[in-house]
This record gives sequence, structure tokens and C-alpha cells, in this order.
Amino acid sequence: MLRTHTCGELNISHKGQQVSLSGWVQRSRDLGGMTFVDLRDRYGLTQLVFDMDSNAELCQQARTLGREFVVQCHGVVAERSSKNNKLATGEIEIIVEKIVILNRSEIPPFTIEENTDGGDELRMKYRYLDLRRSNVKANFELRHRMASAVRNYLDQQQFIEVETPVLIKSTPEGARDFVVPSRVHNGQFYALPQSPQTFKQLLMVAGFDRYYQIVKCFRDEDLRADRQPEFTQIDCEMSFIEQEDILAVFEGLVIHLFKEVKNITIPPLHRMSYADAMKYYGNDKPDMRFDMKIVAYKDESCQQFIIPGKFKVVDEAEYVGGIVCKGCAEYTRKQVDELTDWVKRPQIGAGGLIYIRYNTDGSIKSSIDKFYSQEELKTILEHAHAMPGDLLLILTGIENKTRKALSELRLEMGNRLGLRDKNNYSCLWVYDFPLLEWNEESERFHAMHHPFTSPKTEDVSLLKTNPGKVRANAYDLVINGVEIGGGSIRIFDKKLQAQMFEVLGFTEEKAQEQFGFLMNAFQYGAPPHGGIAFGFDRLCSLFGGSESIRDFIAFPKNNAARDIMIDAPSAIDETQLKELGIRTL
Ligand code: AMO
Repeated sequence: MLRTHTCGELNISHKGQQVSLSGWVQRSRDLGGMTFVDLRDRYGLTQLVFDMDSNAELCQQARTLGREFVVQCHGVVAERSSKNNKLATGEIEIIVEKIVILNRSEIPPFTIEENTDGGDELRMKYRYLDLRRSNVKANFELRHRMASAVRNYLDQQQFIEVETPVLIKSTPEGARDFVVPSRVHNGQFYALPQSPQTFKQLLMVAGFDRYYQIVKCFRDEDLRADRQPEFTQIDCEMSFIEQEDILAVFEGLVIHLFKEVKNITIPPLHRMSYADAMKYYGNDKPDMRFDMKIVAYKDESCQQFIIPGKFKVVDEAEYVGGIVCKGCAEYTRKQVDELTDWVKRPQIGAGGLIYIRYNTDGSIKSSIDKFYSQEELKTILEHAHAMPGDLLLILTGIENKTRKALSELRLEMGNRLGLRDKNNYSCLWVYDFPLLEWNEESERFHAMHHPFTSPKTEDVSLLKTNPGKVRANAYDLVINGVEIGGGSIRIFDKKLQAQMFEVLGFTEEKAQEQFGFLMNAFQYGAPPHGGIAFGFDRLCSLFGGSESIRDFIAFPKNNAARDIMIDAPSAIDETQLKELGIRTL
């Protein structure tokens, strides 16, 4: 070994020991008679000292060391006169006796320190240098610990990890497929899996009973902070279970991960139906770190709380709803105007914002004073359980759009009021999703989760009469307003699966062509089964307190889906194209 210790390991108890260290020169400081070099490896930083008086030649050599040179040094551990208590090795330094340059380095394009001067693009181009930074590296240590904890838990629960193929036929999951042309079969294509969905179901038919895989998935969809074209799932499937069993086993996994990785004991997970999530939070992934439920004043089920004939905007709206912002009655006019501008931005799309301020002295001031009496305004406030000191914000308009806008406003107020602390976690199961959703573009129903999700038994008859109302045995895991996982109990009956394809607009031939393999398998004794997949990158970034999953992917794509380090995607040469039977444009 080219070292006896790592750069993060030595402390005062090693004083006087002869040691060898290897690593990268983080920086070197020349203070006349003395030269100090910070040596870095994966484990930390250690200060090396060279003294002009005791060894001038060695000191001269140290002065030639550039940033990121790879060196090996031998020396004695000594106690520092001025200690650095921010550093694990801050009590000691190495009085160097010999140094060997193992490799030289060009001057790096940015400083390799926690607070670097490198911009995003530059760091991605030189990602291997970015990954040398200790805070970036820590993300991958966390990711590794998470993966180990997942494997330990699932192993204890008798799951076995099985690899499924990467070159497959397309499985429709809503996004576009990445395809790979076949050389042997010109004109034909493999698809990269959007998830191993059909394979894990086939493994259940094969009797594997409990399967998991930490697996790469590929989806050609628009990128966002929490979406990458290739990402990793913890993909799981179980046989002879019901929805409750899946929720119990995977609630156990979530609790285990919080305990093992963050040493946090989380309470049992909240549960909420999809219908309630939409009604109270305007969103199927509500952030439950704070309350602030949406209160409806006018919707399908309640008209009575808005006094008609007073205010056109309200009278003409399909939906009126509001949120109570606790303790915000003191918001200034300027702050309310700012919020109004915020909701009017095209991303939110509200026409305006109504406010009712319930002052601490009981008086009421609102933007609709000229339409409603104080008594009426008080009734409106009381309907939302607002208390003196609170501010009620109301939006009006088309139901779906307005609920969505209220949901965004709620999150924004949560941010402004500091209610979304990233060190607080609130985990939630959302269940009873609709089975289908209407797609305006294709003018047909699409599966909300995927075509293999089973309808709730009591809703099956609606498949023929009112498909949009059928609820599914489907569930999502939501943590802090992020969709971390989703799954369902599957259809395991060939006839029901065929009916589902029919509702989705597949002809019998098309269903056979695309999914014949699965329906055939269902003829040979498919067990009842179901499963779930968690977005592993999302889970890691949540645990690591980061907004972007890119920080937890070693070599991510940028916002334009490019890997700028290796320059992919890129053109391929004519011979290769010819072999693949692909003509250029
Ligand atoms: P679903 O499509 O809900 O379910 O995906 C499961 C989880 O994967 C994560 N995820 C992503 N993460 C990063 N980048 C992406 N582009 C991306 N897309 C999805 C999310 C999501 O909750 N086969 C089913 C699971 C099942 O039914 O068992 C599936 O893939 O966190």
C-alpha cells in the first residue's frame, strides 16, 4: 500500500508515529520559513509541514507542488501549535521527511473545495474533479449507505434481487421510450425499459414471490430538478398479498431507512385518499409538513358559503376556494400586492387574489369590502376557521385550474412562513387513485398508473358505464410533497386484463402484439400480486436535503438531456449507420 493511514484518520493519539499518506494537493501555503500543504483524499484533509531550517531541499521540493498533484509522503505525526477544531485531523500535522510526486496535474478549471468558484456547466464538464469535492462526495457516501440499508431490509424480508433485461420491447408507462436499433434485424428496435414492470410480474408468475432490484430506468421526457432521462428505482413485487400488506412492508422500509441512515424515528405514515388530497390540497402529492388545508366556498357540493348576486368574479366562477395563513393579518398592502402578482404569473395563472384580513382586534379588512358587509365577511372567515390575526386568501375560477393554483399558493405560503424545513419529514400514503384519466389530445382514456393496475373490485362494473369514475388499487408514497414511490395491486386475470386493454383503446390484435407475452403467462397460473417502485435518486436527494437529484447521480445529464463531459448524444459514423440500416436525413 502507498499509505499507512488515510488523510481523515490521524489525531492526537497518533502523535510521534511514523506514517505514510497519499492523496491530492488541495492547496499549499508558503510562509517564508515554512511551507504548509493540505493533502486530501476521500476521507479528509491532513496538513503537511515542511521546515526550511531543518530540510531546505525538501522545502524547496514542496514549493513546486501544484494544486491537484498526486503525492505520497512519509513523516511524523506532531501536535499543531494552532489547532483547527473544524477539521477531524485539526489537532495534528505531519512533519514531512520524504515526498514523492506520483503524478502531476494541470491547474484545475475550478477550485476543488466545498465552496468552489466553478459554475454548473464547468463542473459538469469536469465532473470527475467536481466529485473530488468533499461535499459532493458525501452525497455518494449517503447514496451508498441508502442502497446498503435497502438491501439489508429487503434481504431480511426474504426478497431476492433479480436482474431484468435492458434491451426490451417497449412497456407503455406514459413517457416516450429510448430505442436502440438492431444491427441483426435491420429496421427493428429494442426499447430501454421505462421500468421492469412486465418482467417483475412475469417473475411472480414464475413463483419468485418476493423480488426487488435497484435498477436503471429510462424515460424520454422533459427534464426537471427531480427528473433525469436515466434514473434508478428500487423496484419491488410480491405475491399472495393485498394492498395493506404492501403498505405495511414498505412502510417498514421507509422507517428502517430513516432510522439506519438518519437516526430519525418517524411516526407511522399518514394516509389520505386521492380524492381528499385533491380536495384539501389541490394536489396528489401534498406536503404534510404543514396544515393550511384548502377550504371550498363554491364547488359541486357546496354553494351556500358564498352569498350570490354581490360580486361578479365570485358569482361567475365555477369554483371558489381559499387558504388561511395563520398570523398573517399583519401582512402589509405591499406584501399582499406581491402575492397577487405572484398568483397572476403565467405559471400559476390566477386572474387575481382576494384577501380578507382578520385583525387581532376583531375588525375585518378585505379587498372585497365594497361587495360584502362585515357580518358576511365574518361568516366567510368562520367557514375557514380563521381566527383573529389570520389572513384568508381566496382564488376563483375553473375548478381544476383554481385548485392547482391554490395548491401552489399554499406551498409558496409554506415557504414564506418557514413551514417547509428540509430537516423535518412528513411521509404519506396516497391511495385510491383513479384507474384512468381522459386524454384530450388522443381523445381516449389512458391508464393513470399503468395498464396492469387493477380496478377496485366494487368499481369493476363502472368500467363499462363510467370508466372515469373507476378507482384503482394504486398508491403513492409522498414525502414532503415529493412523489417518492408508486405502485399497485395488479390484474392477474387474463380476461380482466383484456378488458382493461379494450378500455384503453387497444384492439385485440394490438393488445396481443404488445402484451401477448404477459397475457399468455396469465394462462399458466398467475398468483395475485402487486408491488411498488421508489425513485432512488429522489429518495437520496430528500435524505441529503437537496432539491435536485443531479447532486446524487455521479454522472448526470444536464437540462438539455446532454452529458457534456462525454459529449453524448453524438453523431455516429456512416459505416455504423449503414450496418444498422439507418439512412441519414
Ligand atoms: P412510476 O412511474 O410511478 O412507477 O415510477 C416510480 C418512481 O420512480 C421515480 N421516477 C423518476 N425519478 C427520476 N427521474 C424520472 N424521470 C422519474 N420517473 C419516475 C418517482 C416515481 O414515484 N413500474 C411502476 C411501479 C410499480 O407499479 O410497481 C413505475 O415505474 O419517484
